[in-house]
Amino acid sequence: MQMKKALGVEMFIIGMLFCFAVAGSGCGEGGGKKEPGVPGKSVAKPEQVPVQRVSLVSDLVEGRKIFEAKNCSQCHSIFERERKAGPKLQSTRFHGSFLDLFSLLWNHAPAMAVHMRKEVLERPQFSTTELNQLVSFLYMLPYLGQPGDPRRGEALLKEKACFSCHSRGGKGKQGGISLDSLAAFQSQVVLLQRMWNHGPMMLSQMAATRTPTPTFSGNDFSDLFAALTEQGKESRKVFLGFGNAGNGQKMFTEKGCIRCHSIFGKGGKEAPDLGKTVSQSDVTILTTRLWNHAAKMREKFQQKKLEWPKFSATEMNDLIVFLYSLNYDDKPGNPGKGEDIFTRKKCADCHFKTAADKQKIVGDIKTVNSIRFATLLWNHIPSMEASMVIHGVPWPEMSGDELRDVLAYLQSQ
Ligand code: HEC
Ligand code: HEC
Ligand code: HEC
Ligand code: HEC
Repeated sequence: MQMKKALGVEMFIIGMLFCFAVAGSGCGEGGGKKEPGVPGKSVAKPEQVPVQRVSLVSDLVEGRKIFEAKNCSQCHSIFERERKAGPKLQSTRFHGSFLDLFSLLWNHAPAMAVHMRKEVLERPQFSTTELNQLVSFLYMLPYLGQPGDPRRGEALLKEKACFSCHSRGGKGKQGGISLDSLAAFQSQVVLLQRMWNHGPMMLSQMAATRTPTPTFSGNDFSDLFAALTEQGKESRKVFLGFGNAGNGQKMFTEKGCIRCHSIFGKGGKEAPDLGKTVSQSDVTILTTRLWNHAAKMREKFQQKKLEWPKFSATEMNDLIVFLYSLNYDDKPGNPGKGEDIFTRKKCADCHFKTAADKQKIVGDIKTVNSIRFATLLWNHIPSMEASMVIHGVPWPEMSGDELRDVLAYLQSQ
C-alpha cells in the first residue's frame, strides 16, 4: 500500500514535469469568462515598498537540463525507480535556502568524486547562472506536495456544500452553476483563482443562504481539485507551468497584498509577515491558506470600500510561486561565528597564510552574493582538494548556516 502510494506520487510529479514542458505557451487560464470591470475604489497605487529581489528560477526546464548536462542523472534518479550509483534524490530533502541546499552538494563532494573517478566522469564546473538553475530545480521539487485523491474530493464536494449551488458531470444541484470547465486544467491553482475571483459573489450567496463559509485543511484542496478534474483525465490538459516568481512579486504589489502584509519586515503591518509564515509551503498549503483567509479579507475590503483584486491568466500561479520562493535567498550570516569556523575548519591555514593570500580571497569575495560565492567555492574544489590531500586536511563539511557565516566573515574583512 505504502509502495503504491509512493509510486502514485512519482507518476504525478513526472506527469507534471513533462506535461508543462509540452504545454508551451498560449495555455494561459484564458478559458474563463472575461470579467467586466467592477466599479469601486481601486487598490492600485500601493506604496512602492521594495520587497526582496527574487533569485529563484521557478521554471524547471532549465534546471532539469543542467541536471542532465552535468551528469547528475548518471548517478541519481529523482522520479524513476532505477537504481544508480548515488542515492535517489528525495524531494523532502530539499527544504531550505540556496546555501542550505548547496551545502548538501558541498558535503558530498568527496564521495561523489570517488564515484566519478570510477565512472570516468569530469567533475562538473558551473557558471553562476547554471548553479542557480540547478539549485532552484532542487528547491522546486517539494513544491507540488501530494497528489489529490478524487474519492475523498468527491465526499468533500458534498460535505462542504459545494453541490448545494454547483453541479459537475451531471452530479450535484440540478441546473446549478457548472464546474465542468475546470476539468481541462492540471493545476489546483486554477480552482483557487476562480474561487477567488468569484469570491465576493459566492460569499454573499453563502451568507444569504446561511451556508457556512467552507474552509479547508490538510490535502482537502488538492483532493477537491482531483474530483473536479477526474472526468477529463484522458484528454490533454492545460498546465500553467510552475509560475514565474518575479512576476508574482509584481502581483504582490499590484494586487495590493503589500498594503497589509509585509515580507521580512518590509510592507504593511496589519497582517502576518508572509516571509515568516508561509514561505516554501507547498502549493496545496498555499492555496488552502489563501482561500481560508479570503472571507476575512473580504470583510476588511468591504469596510475600506476597496475593490476586490482579481487575477487573470497565470497571475495567481505566479503569486503562489513567489510566496513559495521566499525562503530561497539567504539571510546574512554572523561574521563572528564565521571567523571561528574559518579558523576551525583550517580555511585560514591556506587562505590567510600571507597578506597577499588574504588580500586575494577577501577581494574576490567582497561584493558577491551567496550564489556567486557558492560557484567560486565549487569551481575551486579540484585545486582546493589537491592541496588539502597534500596538507592532510579533512574535507571541511559545512551546513548552510556555516556557509552564511563564513561569507559574512569574509565580507566583513
Ligand atoms: C559519479 C556519481 C555521481 C554523480 C555524477 C553525482 N553524484 Fe551526487 N552523489 C553521489 C553519491 C555516491 C552520493 C552519496 C554520497 C554520500 O552519501 O556521502 C551523492 C550524494 C548527493 C546528494 C546528497 C543526497 C542526500 O540525500 O543527502 C545530492 C543532493 C547530490 N548528490 C546531488 C548531485 C548533483 C546535483 C549532481 C550533479 C551536479 C550529482 N549529485 C552528481 C554520486 C554522484
Ligand atoms: C451558496 C452557494 C454556493 C456554494 C455553497 C458554493 N458556491 Fe461556488 N459559486 C457560487 C456563485 C454564486 C458563484 C459565482 C458565479 C458567477 O460569478 O457567475 C460561484 C463560483 C464558483 C466558481 C467559479 C466558477 C467558474 O466559472 O469556474 C468555482 C470554481 C466555485 N464556485 C467553486 C466552489 C466550490 C469548490 C465550493 C465548495 C467548497 C463552492 N463553490 C460552494 C455559489 C456557491
Ligand atoms: C486588507 C488587508 C489584507 C490584504 C489586502 C491582504 N491580506 Fe492576506 N491577510 C490579512 C489578514 C488580517 C490575515 C490574517 C487573518 C487570517 O488568517 O485570515 C491575512 C492572512 C493571509 C495569509 C495566511 C497567512 C498565514 O500565516 O497563514 C496569506 C497566505 C495571505 N494573507 C495572502 C495574501 C495575499 C496573497 C494577498 C494579496 C492578493 C493578501 N493576503 C491581501 C489581511 C490582508
Ligand atoms: C589546503 C588549502 C586550502 C584549504 C584548507 C581551503 N582552501 Fe579554499 N582554496 C584553496 C586553493 C588552492 C584555492 C584556489 C585558489 C585559486 O585558484 O585562486 C581555493 C579557493 C577558494 C575560494 C575561491 C576564492 C577565489 O579567490 O576565487 C574560496 C571562496 C575558498 N577557497 C574558500 C575556502 C573555505 C571557506 C575554506 C574552509 C572551509 C577553504 N577555502 C579551505 C586552498 C584551500
